[in-house]
Amino acid sequence: MIFHVLTLFPEMIAEGMSHSIIGRAQDAGIISVNAVNIRDFSEDKHKHADDYPYGGGAGMVMSCEPIYKAYDSIVRERRRRSRPRVVYLTPQGQVFNQEMAKSMAEEEDMIFLCGHYEGVDERVLEAIVTDRVSIGDYVLSGGELAAMVMMDAIARMVPGVLTNEESGSTESFEGNLLEYPQYTRPEVWQGRKVPEVLLSGHHAKIEEWRRQQSILRTLLVRPELLDGAELSKKDQKYLEGLRAQSECKNNAK
Ligand code: ADE
Repeated sequence: MIFHVLTLFPEMIAEGMSHSIIGRAQDAGIISVNAVNIRDFSEDKHKHADDYPYGGGAGMVMSCEPIYKAYDSIVRERRRRSRPRVVYLTPQGQVFNQEMAKSMAEEEDMIFLCGHYEGVDERVLEAIVTDRVSIGDYVLSGGELAAMVMMDAIARMVPGVLTNEESGSTESFEGNLLEYPQYTRPEVWQGRKVPEVLLSGHHAKIEEWRRQQSILRTLLVRPELLDGAELSKKDQKYLEGLRAQSECKNNAK
């Protein structure tokens, strides 16, 4: 899979994507990251890629032509008939989630357009963008960090990027449950003990405890996820018990 990123800050992308699992996947040739500098496609002698907004107002707006040319250079190189999926990172987009990551991981190429300043001329967005995506309800200074968040989550879904061991942590979120807590040595740290069951060597009990911790955490922090969670009869019974307990506590108040 090739991630193409149209940006004014290509170094930021190259550096941000060069570490850990994503760096390893690039070294292995499973994914590649092609950061394209929009400024290189400016025909202005000062390499400007932005201009004043029509109608007035503060800030600058990124111009159509350099963005379109940068996009077109990728499309031509690709030599495929189908139009590539082009994501514009914006707080006005659909909020990104694991399901979108999974669907995007099936593409051979993805193009990300990172905006800056007050925005991007709407006409080039209309011409090339297939998906407007936000990574959450807050405003970043530019699309680069958002694009990297998306690429990380998408790359993890590309076959071969994660080892078998690593893939477990994503699967647990796919079941709409949060992760259970993890512990490593020492057994006691600043007076805090590792839960006894994890030292027992009893695998079935450990599995049961972890599952229950996942359900408990989800109920406490993101209860709305439980509506879409895949719960066995046993899980449901445990959840009903937790809910009954919290009702008792509320009634006693
Ligand atoms: N650009 C600025 N803020 C953003 C956000 N929350 N998500 C995606 N792109 C952005």
